[in-house]
Amino acid sequence: MKLVKATHLNGSIAVPADKSISHRSIMFGALAEGTTTVHNFLRGEDCFSTLHAFQQLGVPIHDDGKTITIEGQGFNGLKPAKSAIDIGNSGTTIRLMMGILAGQSFQTIMYGDDSLNRRPMNRVMLPLSEMGAQLEGAQETEFPPITISGNSDLKPITYHMPVASAQVKSAIIFAALQAHGTSTIIEKEASRNHTEDMIRQFGGSITTEGKTITVTGPQMFQGQEVIVPGDISSAAFFLTAGAIMPDSHITLTNVGINPTRTGIIDVLTEMGADMNMRNQDVQNQSATIDIRSSQLTGITISGDIIPRLIDELPIIALLATQAQGTTVIKDAEELKVKETNRIDATAEELQKIGARITPTADGLIIHGPTKLHGGHVSSRGDHRIGMMLQIAALLTDEDVTLDRAEAVAVSYPHFFDDVRTLAQGGESK
Ligand code: S3P
Repeated sequence: MKLVKATHLNGSIAVPADKSISHRSIMFGALAEGTTTVHNFLRGEDCFSTLHAFQQLGVPIHDDGKTITIEGQGFNGLKPAKSAIDIGNSGTTIRLMMGILAGQSFQTIMYGDDSLNRRPMNRVMLPLSEMGAQLEGAQETEFPPITISGNSDLKPITYHMPVASAQVKSAIIFAALQAHGTSTIIEKEASRNHTEDMIRQFGGSITTEGKTITVTGPQMFQGQEVIVPGDISSAAFFLTAGAIMPDSHITLTNVGINPTRTGIIDVLTEMGADMNMRNQDVQNQSATIDIRSSQLTGITISGDIIPRLIDELPIIALLATQAQGTTVIKDAEELKVKETNRIDATAEELQKIGARITPTADGLIIHGPTKLHGGHVSSRGDHRIGMMLQIAALLTDEDVTLDRAEAVAVSYPHFFDDVRTLAQGGESK
């Protein structure tokens, strides 16, 4: 596909719903007693993978095109699926569901697309096995299809996490909620806390002290009304676009600002972006953010901020190509096991259009500012790489063509429409 071109960007975008929270709203709704309604559910492919998976496990879920209604079955009400469950591209779905299914008294098989079937699962399989579930990957590997034989008598666990990962943490929490006794999880670095927040919202309890999380099972949840805020990881593409395009002013409404997710705001501030936040809604953890064309300076991004911006690193790399000086991204080896190897994909695809960017073992080094040029690039089937390349293409005089553009539908189905709206100086619905 030939990517959208623009001279400047102006207007307002209502950021699409948060992917992490949308997944969890279905999971908690299914596991609660009573009815849960979800407003502003993300209508992206990944979240539909979660919705369809629970329908296969016997949970009635109704979608009227606006609101999702879930007839919760409780932890003990899930039914064995009639066939293996297709999880598509969604790492969050497969890993969190492993934790849920670990405590069930039946067997489930889950598989994904070519990308998901290459992603590491031992990080979840090992602690869940220690708790008493049986998990097997394809042909004695750690890769999907994964067969889970659940155990309705799981043991609690004390677990020092070897990776900073909200998916691994959440899988263990879901199993711990079904175990008899108290589990303690010690995080390597604090990661997004939507699972913990939602346990409290659904009437359960969990405590966090620094990097130590304590949860006692078994617990029961009550159905709730969930309003999903916008996804800061989707907003990040337009925060970057507004900062690097000339003569631009973008307003982003309903941006989720949970503090475990706002690393991108800290980076933009440190690089010198012309940005401000207003209309903060404390209950919904959301705000409006204005961003304007900015003079940026390169910085070093490393350590405990990495989990707070892990999904934003490809677009931050593009941001850095337009900053004065060198930007160094370190401690981000987790990028290698995302939907693609995002260290290689970001470096190699941006190099094709002239960026001065070098991959390292745990990150990227980017020199700027650089005038990018036209070329032929690929999303490699990774939504965030595809969206990053579209924002890059706004800066080039020549055309940029993108292969596998359809990947953006995983998290942001109307992304290209929103780019066009801003290029025409308009307002999205
Ligand atoms: C997610 C956690 C992160 C993130 C992913 C969503 C979640 O993955 O990259 O897009 O919803 O828990 P890791 O936990 O593997 O870092």
